[in-house]
Amino acid sequence: MSTDLTERALSAYAPSAEFAAQANAQASLYQEAEEDREAFWAKQARRLHWHTPFSEVLDWSEAPVAKWFADGKLNVAYNCVDRHVEAGHGDQVAIHWEGEPGDSRALTYSDLLAEVSKAANYLTELGLQPGDRVAIYMPMIPEAIVAMLACARLGLTHSVVFAGFSSSALRSRIDDASAKLVITTDGQFRRGKPAPLKASVDEAIGGETPAPSVEHVLVVRRTGQDTPWQEGRDVWWHETVEQASDQHEAQAFDAEHPLFLLYTSGTTGKPKGIVHTSGGYLTQTSYTHDAVFDHKPGKDVYWCTADIGWVTGHSYIVYGPLSNRATQVVYEGTPNSPNEHRHFEVIEKYGVTIYYTAPTLIRTFMKWGREIPDAHDLSTLRLLGTVGEPINPEAWRWYHEVFGHGRCPIVDTWWQTETGAIMISPLPGVTEAKPGSAMAPLPGISVQIVDDEAHAVERGATEANGYLVVDKPWPSMLRGIWGDMQRFKDTYWSRFAEQGYYFAGDGAKFDEDGAIWVLGRVDDVMNISGHRISTAEVESALVGHDAVAEAAVIGASDETTGQAIVAFVILRKGVENTGDELVSSMRAAVAKDIGHIAKPRDIYVVPELPKTRSGKIMRRLLRDVAEGRELGDTSTLVDPAVVESLRQK
Ligand code: PRX
Repeated sequence: MSTDLTERALSAYAPSAEFAAQANAQASLYQEAEEDREAFWAKQARRLHWHTPFSEVLDWSEAPVAKWFADGKLNVAYNCVDRHVEAGHGDQVAIHWEGEPGDSRALTYSDLLAEVSKAANYLTELGLQPGDRVAIYMPMIPEAIVAMLACARLGLTHSVVFAGFSSSALRSRIDDASAKLVITTDGQFRRGKPAPLKASVDEAIGGETPAPSVEHVLVVRRTGQDTPWQEGRDVWWHETVEQASDQHEAQAFDAEHPLFLLYTSGTTGKPKGIVHTSGGYLTQTSYTHDAVFDHKPGKDVYWCTADIGWVTGHSYIVYGPLSNRATQVVYEGTPNSPNEHRHFEVIEKYGVTIYYTAPTLIRTFMKWGREIPDAHDLSTLRLLGTVGEPINPEAWRWYHEVFGHGRCPIVDTWWQTETGAIMISPLPGVTEAKPGSAMAPLPGISVQIVDDEAHAVERGATEANGYLVVDKPWPSMLRGIWGDMQRFKDTYWSRFAEQGYYFAGDGAKFDEDGAIWVLGRVDDVMNISGHRISTAEVESALVGHDAVAEAAVIGASDETTGQAIVAFVILRKGVENTGDELVSSMRAAVAKDIGHIAKPRDIYVVPELPKTRSGKIMRRLLRDVAEGRELGDTSTLVDPAVVESLRQK
């Protein structure tokens, strides 16, 4: 991101008068929220159906654990499914599902209600009780969404584990949450080929030390491939769920009932189980989906390209859109299967109007060339969104021009697994958006950018790097880290404890107009294609390899993926460096421990790592090496000769 901030700040894109006039969210929303924040959020919460209305909006007396709408009761799945059917929209398509091999299914809201009810009945038959945890390890098929909604309906807390994570990553998440049930598929289609998935579950929970908490594994048949089976423990979805009654009455749960855990990377090797609850989470995902995406139920065709394994899939495929009665596209596969036209064919086929994706994919499309999108009719698109990492202005402009033909507003949405829903974003009918800036906190959200001493950073001060903090509680905020409230406090609330600010871990600045530019993580968390991976996780996977004595990992900037993982390793004594063969076995070790997404792009075998006198690895120096820059200040190095050896890497 080399463009000068001032130059970037000059070009802003205002929505067309036509778009502005019909927008769900108007400028008055800021004022309304400003005047009475709690009344504003109460109004948003009342967009949902409450079995028992709430009388209290926010209880912050046990900060940093917030309670929102605490005496209210609701059922999240009822809000996402039943109430639309009851209101006469049962025949509206909820999900246009597009399988990777070319198969497709449409599920109406009535279909979804029947499927979720069946699953809820069978999960009840399995003896699961509200509060029990269920792990979901599935590709992007409708049953994955049904499984999440069935859990929500029963007050079971789901923990979705991205199906690209390895069996050992799955195991540690199952153990941490003591999940009683795992829902999975026989296999998944990836780049045109079926790959086993249930086998990874078996590897995770079976063997010599079976996972003590797991009682059953519920398996959806997707690929039809041969599948290992353990009688008594494993059950087929089509023999159980599909045979169950499609009648089920949803019970209400407390607004603060835990809805899901979602594991995300922090600065240590152990992923954190971020806890989200029901009423506040659904309020904010629903409100933001309506206001930021300008979604019109029954008219729009919405497509969020995320996977349910990440928070974007939770909030903007499942809970936000379904609570707003969206008709959405869900696509199972990779964007270039069978070829690079696939995404654009999907947009054309379903007449997608709202499209939400990650900058890394936009940059990939740029690389493939504009003749591919230009070969398709994209005229149905009316709004575009991005999430996951800062978007470089070039990619923003390309997206605006090539996808949006210059007429679709772009919402660059900043948020995190922890925030649960969008926090900073343009309002598409109001904001003059600047390419690369997430612009301003949404109505109802309050953020600041502060320096080390918690002083507000001046606007427009180009050198004034600051930390992004949230200074007032918000409805969809995380309520803790599963089983580790101390870590929750230490990670997010200790940095600015006196002020009571939530520390997001991102660097940011305001430009002279007060627009927010998020600059990326300030901790040891890397952002690879919008996915969070910690340096410590990858280091520990590398050190698990027999040949490796020590490893240091950094995120180096990468044109397509934003950052790429680069590792520097020292071999154990006596180990011979066999070059490529050794390096591939190290990459395989990382894939096994975490998943393919965490495989380093480059691994350099080096004789030494640059360390300070206090023994800290100088990551800045490694970053310089990886990005081919002149090495910066090396005066604090213990052994300056190390620099020479790195240069020759
Ligand atoms: O660094 C920020 C970056 O992604 C991090 C959150 O990652 P995760 O919890 O996996 O959630 C990603 C999807 C919500 C943030 O700390 N990030 C996310 N959105 C943006 C962003 N950075 C800049 N601009 C964004 N729009």
